[in-house]
Amino acid sequence: MNRRTFLKSTTAGSLFTIVPATVLVKPGRTAPSDKLNIAIVGVGGRGRSNLDGVKSENIVAMCDVDQRQASKSFLEYPDATKYTDFRDMLDKEHKNVDAVVVSTPDHTHAPAVMAALQLKKHVYCEKPLAHSIFEVRKITQAAREAGVATQMGNQGHSSEHIRLMCEWIWDGAIGEVTEIFAWSDRPSGGFAFPVAMPRPKETPEIPKGLLWDLWLGPAQWRPYHPAYVPAMWRGWVDFGTGALGDMGCHILDPSFWALKLGAPEWVEANTTHYEEKVERETYPVASIIRYQFPERDGMPPLKLTWFDGGLLPPRPEDFEEGRALGGNGEIIVGSKGKMIHGSHGASGVRLFPEEKMQAYERPEKTIPRVKDHHTDWINACKGGPAASSNFDYGGPMTEMVLLGVLAARVKNRRLYWDADNLSITNDKDANELVNPPYREGWS
Ligand SMILES: NC(=O)c1ccc[n+]([C@@H]2O[C@H](COP(=O)([O-])OP(=O)(O)OC[C@H]3O[C@@H](n4cnc5c(N)ncnc54)[C@H](O)[C@@H]3O)[C@@H](O)[C@H]2O)c1
Repeated sequence: MNRRTFLKSTTAGSLFTIVPATVLVKPGRTAPSDKLNIAIVGVGGRGRSNLDGVKSENIVAMCDVDQRQASKSFLEYPDATKYTDFRDMLDKEHKNVDAVVVSTPDHTHAPAVMAALQLKKHVYCEKPLAHSIFEVRKITQAAREAGVATQMGNQGHSSEHIRLMCEWIWDGAIGEVTEIFAWSDRPSGGFAFPVAMPRPKETPEIPKGLLWDLWLGPAQWRPYHPAYVPAMWRGWVDFGTGALGDMGCHILDPSFWALKLGAPEWVEANTTHYEEKVERETYPVASIIRYQFPERDGMPPLKLTWFDGGLLPPRPEDFEEGRALGGNGEIIVGSKGKMIHGSHGASGVRLFPEEKMQAYERPEKTIPRVKDHHTDWINACKGGPAASSNFDYGGPMTEMVLLGVLAARVKNRRLYWDADNLSITNDKDANELVNPPYREGWS
């Protein structure tokens, strides 16, 4: 029996008096003993994993614009009401819904999340939090105003390793940090996606079951092509955020947390495109993106350099022979030592060379541990502590990532960033990319 059925049956005249748990919590909020009623936006691809992550709760409504992608999840939840337009779903279901999970492509995160926040629903949204820096800032503010529980889908943030890394850095294990190297095998490696191609000229028929106009959402209209859906949208600037946008919220998360990176002073990218003329449509084949961070909370200024598309940072001189950097990760350089880790929450974090790791006396664990990323959010929705990658954390981190993504689009230009005013102060063209226009009908 879910919370609402229970309340209905008790108010319908049952004589025994059990105080429903909901009266003990704030009106409109869910008690820990009750289940949340959750609506899901985007149930194929990553949406399936997120659905699995919240299956302990009541899945009351589901929305997807592509029946081919959605059918498996739709069949698994016969009792959930099915929709194709999240605006329609929220209009009809909002009285019955406590929380919303958004796993659509990057360019439709913001409209769906904002619609949910305006109705004061708790929100879990995939990384990166949104497609443009402006959207991220607006969502972060709206979440704060709504006072709801939020979580960005950088699940590594709930890991043990990211906590160890923070504790070791705060313990002074590698001294003062002034330089970070980060790298990703995207777009060509790992979960590869195409870049450096011109916009397709053919206009194949829209497959049955796909609502193309709704898939486009706020992006400018263009004809359907399989070069975009599913998942391949990552390489196209109108929909995705390229290699850095895809992986940055996983790979840079540990240093963003441990070193309180916040907003950079400037960012600059050198990139490779096969052809100059296609560079406005897709992200680069490979990039080196440099960030400069100012002094923060007593920590010295710091340089962060990101490599992707098969480029790697210089191999550290004290790296043991035969030791590999791996496909994705960071090297953190301090005044007293160095650290290396992989993607998704500092996986495999180690001091190096290995003898330094062996000799290191680990400090006491001080950061609270969480069961997993989805449970962390569910608990927050039920009045527990804020989830660890809530939008006040995930928002500023995504802004930092998206600033690098923006720099890769204009390339070879140092962009000075005024975070308070959400503005690139020295480059008018680049500044326009902070808040690109929506298609008519979307806002
Ligand atoms: N956290 C992770 O490890 C992880 C892994 C993969 C993807 N992601 C993120 O998840 C999101 C989705 O990526 P994906 O690879 O699953 O993409 P995808 O294209 O494979 O799947 C997206 C799903 O959303 C549906 N959809 C698209 N537009 C929609 C709309 N307007 N309303 C409702 N449904 C819509 C699609 O039909 C599809 O079912 C992206 O933001 C991506 O960055 C995160």
